Amino acid sequence: MSLFRKKSLNSLLQQAADSEKGLKRTLTAWSLIALGIGAIIGAGLFVRTAAAAGGHAGSAVTVSFIIAAVGCAFAGLCYAEFASMIPIAGSAYTYAYTTMGELIAWIIGWALVLEYALGAATVSIAWSEYLNKLFDNRIPYEWCHSPFSKEVVDGVTHHGIMNAPALFILLVLSLLLIRGTQQSAWVNAVIVFIKVAIVLIFIAVGWQFINGANHHPYFIPADQPPVQLKDGTLYSYQDTFRHGWGGVLRGAAIVFFAFIGFDAVSTAAQEAKNPKRDMPIGILGSLVICTILYILFSWVLTGVAPFTEFMLSGREASVANAIDLHMPGYHWLATAVTVAILAGFSSVILVMLLGQSRVFYSMSNDGLLPGAFSQLHSKFRTPFKSNWMLFLFVGAIATLLPGDITGDLTSIGTLFAFVVVCIGVWIMRIKQPNIQRPFRVPALPIVAILGVLVCGAMIVSLDSTTQLTAFAWMVIGLVIYFGYSRSRSKHKHDDDIIPTASDFEKR
Ligand code: ALA
Repeated sequence: MSLFRKKSLNSLLQQAADSEKGLKRTLTAWSLIALGIGAIIGAGLFVRTAAAAGGHAGSAVTVSFIIAAVGCAFAGLCYAEFASMIPIAGSAYTYAYTTMGELIAWIIGWALVLEYALGAATVSIAWSEYLNKLFDNRIPYEWCHSPFSKEVVDGVTHHGIMNAPALFILLVLSLLLIRGTQQSAWVNAVIVFIKVAIVLIFIAVGWQFINGANHHPYFIPADQPPVQLKDGTLYSYQDTFRHGWGGVLRGAAIVFFAFIGFDAVSTAAQEAKNPKRDMPIGILGSLVICTILYILFSWVLTGVAPFTEFMLSGREASVANAIDLHMPGYHWLATAVTVAILAGFSSVILVMLLGQSRVFYSMSNDGLLPGAFSQLHSKFRTPFKSNWMLFLFVGAIATLLPGDITGDLTSIGTLFAFVVVCIGVWIMRIKQPNIQRPFRVPALPIVAILGVLVCGAMIVSLDSTTQLTAFAWMVIGLVIYFGYSRSRSKHKHDDDIIPTASDFEKR
């Protein structure tokens, strides 16, 4: 049996035909764009922007956003071609299965856990920060921080015990998901509206408070003096990836988090009414809208507050703090932003959890994961067992780890999946040139190569702990694949089935 056995297109098509019996087809192009924006604007913008500016890129975090957006656009185009060609639930995982074989598909599926499950954990940790801000920091430090976090106040050191608010929001949203995608998408649409409105209001109001001096120098200089952090340690800017262009590149890998999610649209392909037309619109439409908003937003944020502040008092709930500290008379806006962010983050977590459970659904249908992950609820038709297991897993991570660690791991997992998708779409063009492609990536292979280079550069710029942890995660994944999944695959005998153009047309 080959490690590169591919899932036959026939079985994919059968799965799509069976979807009447499985997941419901309810999503239109607009609900897909809403799903995309719902997943996209979140902690990346409202928390990670400040972390990238404060620690690595300074005001030039706007440039970081441009680099991250360029990487996403290249990968997004490749995603769109795949999504229009193979409108089946499962995202990059499914695409890899038909092009590069089972082993690579497994690796991608495993990397997607970093993207979706750790992404959901990161946003729930950020949710907890803003909830604490809403309560004027009255939630005891110990109960809204991980055991790895500490702060020194008036000479007294406080250690985190667990992040209880993060666990709470994950529970509420898991229950909502179990009730069904349709309701979730509706709730999502309302939240997306509020979220975009608040970003626009912040840009418009904040523009008047931009202090030109904060934008000079635009890049962090190599001789930037160190700052003393809240836990008492000194933070130096001397590292290659903490000033100048190196800092901007690391900043891109950090704010890359803010773009994660547009590919989550592709995981809902099996629930789209007209996947061929609507998937590319949903993926690229949401990416373009968000890129414009992010660049404007980060220009205003770093103009309103000096970047070093994001390492100090403005580190948590950074946007609301920047308003309170630098925009006199706008306390109401800080409160409105906080409330909107709490709602907005909820929609992001929802889509992340949805994406993860759908990837598990596909992997389980293929026999690579236990059947419980694809078992549907008799009434709600949702993979409820999968949702419960995810809640336990994501909840444990969100409760016990700090957001910076989970955030960087999310970025690296997603960047890795993007690199493989870029390569996959290229391979598919060479091996299957005649297959009908409702959407074609322009200028292939240049776009795919640039996608690999830009996303690869961001991976390289991340710190070695993140790189090693991600590597360890992949090793664990391989052990599970060879110890469990490989022998249970339902596609053991699919090796020789090569899809033809007419297979695709049958759809
Ligand atoms: N893009 C999502 C966010 O920024 C994951 O929260």
